[in-house]
Amino acid sequence: MSTTIPAVRRLAQVIPAVEASDGAGVRLRRSLGSRPGLYFDPFLLLDEFGTDRPEDYIAGFPPHPHRGFETVTYMLDGRMQHRDHLGNVGELGPGGVQWMSAGRGVIHSEMPRQQQGRMRGFQLWINLPAAEKMKPAHYRDIPPEQIPTRALPGGGDVKVIAGTVAIGGERAEGPINGAGARLSTDPLYLDLRLPAGARHRQALPVHHNACVYLYEGSVAIGSEAAAGLLPPRTAGLLEPAGEAVELTAGTDGARLLLLAGRMLREPVVQYGPFVMNTREQIEQAIRDYQSGRLTAAV
Ligand code: CO
Repeated sequence: MSTTIPAVRRLAQVIPAVEASDGAGVRLRRSLGSRPGLYFDPFLLLDEFGTDRPEDYIAGFPPHPHRGFETVTYMLDGRMQHRDHLGNVGELGPGGVQWMSAGRGVIHSEMPRQQQGRMRGFQLWINLPAAEKMKPAHYRDIPPEQIPTRALPGGGDVKVIAGTVAIGGERAEGPINGAGARLSTDPLYLDLRLPAGARHRQALPVHHNACVYLYEGSVAIGSEAAAGLLPPRTAGLLEPAGEAVELTAGTDGARLLLLAGRMLREPVVQYGPFVMNTREQIEQAIRDYQSGRLTAAV
C-alpha cells in the first residue's frame, strides 16, 4: 500500500482572527482556538496582540494558572515581565521569546514593563502528550541574539525560533528543539519577512500539521497561479501532508509566522487554562488549583 505525498501543500482552511480580550483586559486577535472544537493538533491557540494604545495592554495578565501544555510568547515590540510561583522573573523584549512548559502546573503573571508605546507580539499554545502533561513546569527566556536570522535566496529573511531549516545548503537551528532538547511535538516556528513579489519555498516535515499566520501585507500560498490568497490577520491551515509550502508575497510584501508540529492524535478536553485528555483530569486540575496543589511536587 502506498499513498502519494504532494510536493507542495495547498491552503486547506482559513481561520480569521477574532477580536478577544484576555487577562485583565488585554485586547488581542485570536485565530487558532477562537472557537470550540477548532483544534489544529498540536496547536491549541494563537493570539496576536498589537496596539499603540496603552489602555489596550496596561492591565496585563495578573497571576493565572496553566496545566497540560506549553505557551510560547514572541515579542515584536514592547516589554513584558514574567513572574511565576517558582520565583522566576524574566524580561521579554523586542525579538525575544519565552518558551514555557506548564506541565502539571504553573501560576504566573505577564505584565507590561512600559507605560506607553507599541506592544506587539504573539502567544502560541502547543499541546503536550498525555505522558508529559504532569511533568514539572519549566521555562526558558530566549534573548533575540540567540534566534538565528538568515537571508532568503528570493529576498527577505527568516528568524528560526524552533526547529531547523536549510537555506542555500546551510542549516540554521533554532534555540528550541535543537540537539539534546527535542520536544515530542517537534515544532517548527519561523517568522518570515518577504519583500513585494518575493517567492519562498519552505520545506516542511512531511506529516506535521502546518499553518501560516499573516500579520502584515499579503501572501499567496501554493505553487500555481491558482494559489490561495491569505487575507491579513488570518491563519491559513495547510493540507495535512506534503513536503513544502510555497509563499509569494503580494505588492506590499508579507510578514508571517509559519508553524508546524507533530500531531499527538490524543483526546483533548480543555477548560480555560487547563488542557488534559479526560474530564476527570480537568476536574482534578480544578480541585488542585482551588486547594493550592496545582503546582505542588508529586
Ligand atoms: Co499565561
